[in-house]
Amino acid sequence: MAADNLQAETVAVTAGRPDQPGEPLNVAIHPTSNYLQGGEREYSRGDGTPTIDAFEAAIGALEGGWALAFASGMAAASAVFDQLPRGAIVVVAEGCYQGVAALVDEGAERQGWEVKRVASADTDRWLSLIDIGPDLVWLESPSNPMLEVADVPGICSAAAAAGVTCAVDNTFATPLLQRPLDHGATYSIHSATKFIGGHSDLLGGLVVTADPDRRRSLEQRRLLGGATIGALEAFLALRGLRTLPVRLARSQASAADLAHRLAKHSAITTVRFPGLATDPGYTVAKRTLSGPGAVLSFETTGTPQQVDATLDGLSLIRVATSLGGVESTLERRARLRGQNHVPATLIRLSVGCEHVDDLWRDLSNALDHLPSTEIR
Ligand SMILES: Cc1ncc(COP(=O)(O)O)c(C=O)c1O
Repeated sequence: MAADNLQAETVAVTAGRPDQPGEPLNVAIHPTSNYLQGGEREYSRGDGTPTIDAFEAAIGALEGGWALAFASGMAAASAVFDQLPRGAIVVVAEGCYQGVAALVDEGAERQGWEVKRVASADTDRWLSLIDIGPDLVWLESPSNPMLEVADVPGICSAAAAAGVTCAVDNTFATPLLQRPLDHGATYSIHSATKFIGGHSDLLGGLVVTADPDRRRSLEQRRLLGGATIGALEAFLALRGLRTLPVRLARSQASAADLAHRLAKHSAITTVRFPGLATDPGYTVAKRTLSGPGAVLSFETTGTPQQVDATLDGLSLIRVATSLGGVESTLERRARLRGQNHVPATLIRLSVGCEHVDDLWRDLSNALDHLPSTEIR
């Protein structure tokens, strides 16, 4: 559970470290499936390893609950959805990550779930649907890739008061910008593949809960589903977590800077970033998040084909589908399946730790090839 009296930056660096004389400063990698019988652990699918324990302890301390680490963010999300009964009522953010949206569609088809999709910002609608007693409310804030912001404290506390299970995909905010469990969320979920790992070199996921019964059933899901995080991945994710505060501070500051510069560029029609005063999510983000995060999206002039050709002209920022790494990556999201709600030219940019002036030079050089809004 939460470490008392320490700032999150300190917790990220210290939580889960060995503390006995003679132990290594960092928990070692334990690449084992099997343990000699007679001890606490027998088989690592269910019993984990000391590396997984350390990673979970650190995330649990940051989020204020117990963390369970999974093989990916989708495995973590599945462990929550797998607990729903046939015919469940599921209230889900309309613009949530496409993998989760597909999972929900599959549940509707195979398990007869009744799915109600809500715009993240429509707090009244979330609250009125909580009143009907759904089996699960699933928020994602800020959302991927539209950067929509939900009133996480307001919605989670209403769900808690009504006894409704409420999950928040906290991947974009990270535990440093938002702690959903503090507001009554049942679960906080992460793709550790993104900012927590931070180096685009692992797949991992987390579910965090403060409810001991939920923790036990998640452990059972992980044991039976078998999607336990790997030994190396747990080590890398914990190592990544140690620098999350500095990486995020740097990336977030650069993202804010780039958002302002993009807003003035003649080939940009819209910038979505919760840290921009003109963004529809700005006011709620100010109240609910400790910072706007390090991802922004923007729409451009030109056709999707012109935009793709423009992205080919980048030399520093990598065109790649994932996000949250030390290296900046971007992608035109509508090229993916299941992204019908995403505008055709929308580019999602995950800002890394490079110098912001280098990023801007690369980006603006490429964008200069698109038609200008002034001559459209
Ligand atoms: C917000 C969000 N949640 C969950 C996931 C799924 O995570 P993973 O790719 O680690 O399975 C992603 C992946 O992009 C994501 O962006």
